[in-house]
Amino acid sequence: MSRGYFQHGGITFPGLLYSPRGLEAARDFPVEDDDVFNVTYQKSGTVWMLEILSLIRSDGDPRWCRSVPNWDRGPWLETVLGLRRARSNPRPRLISSHLPIQLFPKAFFTSKAKVIYTVRNPKDVLVSLYHFARIFRPYKDPGSLEQFLEKFLEGDVPFGSWFEHVRGWLELRGRENFFCISYEELQQDLRGSVERLCAFLGRGLSAEALDAVVANASFAAMSRNRMSNFSLSPLFILDLRRGPFLRKGISGDWKNHLTAEQSARFDRVYRERMAGLGVTFPWDPP
Ligand code: A3P
Repeated sequence: MSRGYFQHGGITFPGLLYSPRGLEAARDFPVEDDDVFNVTYQKSGTVWMLEILSLIRSDGDPRWCRSVPNWDRGPWLETVLGLRRARSNPRPRLISSHLPIQLFPKAFFTSKAKVIYTVRNPKDVLVSLYHFARIFRPYKDPGSLEQFLEKFLEGDVPFGSWFEHVRGWLELRGRENFFCISYEELQQDLRGSVERLCAFLGRGLSAEALDAVVANASFAAMSRNRMSNFSLSPLFILDLRRGPFLRKGISGDWKNHLTAEQSARFDRVYRERMAGLGVTFPWDPP
């Protein structure tokens, strides 16, 4: 099994599951006005948001989430199989993507389709990705955390730089079909976040339905759900013997992994790369 990477539009992708032709086809994907895109930089809460959006769509009824794998409910547009699934799923469609904005379907930008962009403290993204790279077979072994930290800060990882991804997508701020929320907001107030998502999606959910969304999208509920915990994923893609996909599900785990020096180095790069963005995040260094 090749674990090679290829470059497409200046971004690194793994050769397993992804292809240049697939990425070109994703760029030409025929977007419909009722499409809802779940967009993230990887490890920022993609499957959590997908679960929330699936549950909102079914008024809190968990049957869809418990009977259809998440990768079929909201397929990843940039994978060869996900693209096929996205094309064939009935409308209105939920579609997931980690693509940076410059590789996203062109048709989106002239459509009324909606993007929900979930962003997470990049130090937690780094730690989550470090663990994920050890179980996700298309990715290269991350080496030591010290080595991986440098690669992450340089953007020398699949899907490219966190900084560029976030800066690129946040350019859409203020557009009425763009909604940005953080993993940390979901953590702090899931119910309030679901209400805001419902308002953005134009969905009115009863109090009971909201409760059901919150209950079924919890870390514990998702960890139990075989359609959401990736236990159905084949071993050649995900090696869950080495660790779970739903690993810890907390904010601030970076403090258990990064030294004070590594954290300070991260902050220096962060300040440089995020300067002038005009957005403040709870994790911004002082
Ligand atoms: P950790 O590795 O820090 O635990 P993605 O879906 O973008 O790959 O992100 C995966 C991260 O989201 C993992 O973080 C995972 O545990 C976390 N996650 C998934 N579902 C969650 C939930 N219901 N509550 C909290 N965190 C969740």
